[in-house]
Amino acid sequence: MAELKNLSEISWQDFKKLTLAEKGCYFHGRHTLIAQQFTREEIEELCTLATRIKRINKRREGANFLKGLLRDKRAMLYFAQPSSRTYLSHNAACQILGLDTMDVRDQKTSSEVKGETPEDTVRTFSSYADIIIMRHPVGGFAERVAWMMAHTKREIPILNAGSGADQHPTQALLDIYTLQRSFEKTGGVDGKHVAFVGDLARGRTVRSLAWMLTLYKDMTLYFIAPEALQIGQDILDLLDEAGTKYVVTEDFESIMPKADAIYMTRIQDEWDVEGESSTTDASDYHIGAEHMKIIKDTTVILHPLPRRLEISTEIDNDPRAVYWRQMRNGMWIRAALILKTFGRDDEVHQYYDDYKPEA
Ligand code: CP
Repeated sequence: MAELKNLSEISWQDFKKLTLAEKGCYFHGRHTLIAQQFTREEIEELCTLATRIKRINKRREGANFLKGLLRDKRAMLYFAQPSSRTYLSHNAACQILGLDTMDVRDQKTSSEVKGETPEDTVRTFSSYADIIIMRHPVGGFAERVAWMMAHTKREIPILNAGSGADQHPTQALLDIYTLQRSFEKTGGVDGKHVAFVGDLARGRTVRSLAWMLTLYKDMTLYFIAPEALQIGQDILDLLDEAGTKYVVTEDFESIMPKADAIYMTRIQDEWDVEGESSTTDASDYHIGAEHMKIIKDTTVILHPLPRRLEISTEIDNDPRAVYWRQMRNGMWIRAALILKTFGRDDEVHQYYDDYKPEA
């Protein structure tokens, strides 16, 4: 990690010109805004912390210990786009750690409808909270908020729970955590072949995860989508820069037997400009019982969810279908991230070492 920098010392115009890696130096350890701000070491540290929190929480005395850690803190959950998992898992993570939560889940219920700017809206939230966890349709708005807060006397951590079609860093963390746990007995994440399938052009989860996987050795990524929904050149450029191998193809069935992980995604028609989803045939980007004979016994199937028709419910109980577990992992990794953001992670490690809760 390059030298850490202070957001209060850069103008917005200069900040906007930075590369993602350069921006990461301004967020590191305080805000969680982009996948590119994390090192592999930090991701692995969060995964270890998540597992420890999960184990400690299994016993009542452990749960009480966790609940006391951030009892003096309040979190504001500002979700200006629909969400089930990200909202609920962050809320649950806060509850595990004792934070009180407040929320605005519909902009129509905030004073934005009276013409208040989004910037003033978030600044208002910051008056009552110690952390803002936010999802917003405008790409880069969470960064703008972090920059703005750094120029006030009340810089509080901003955690990006999904911004525009560009970033979903906490989803990428939970995806990595799921891959790490899935491959615990088969050599870890390094060297694996990961296939991304579906709407890759507008899937912020894919964009964040694909980059995070460049931190692992000898990876091969497959981007499988109809031409109109294929992954953006900006992500391929980042992979080239990182030296990560990749294949761009429309042929899902030929990749199925090679993949160690298959990351399915739904068509994100909420981003349509001219109804382009309705003119794109995505029926081949589907996985069902017939495909389970083609994929390896050790392959895992992930999906950030929600799903539509791209995964048949008939495979839900196959041990290779890990998307429900992946969703639950989100709560633990988000608890780890919030705890780390407030610098209270050492207490969990100490408790874990003292009491050694069972797996
Ligand atoms: N994966 C995800 O972001 O799900 P939600 O939109 O339900 O939060």
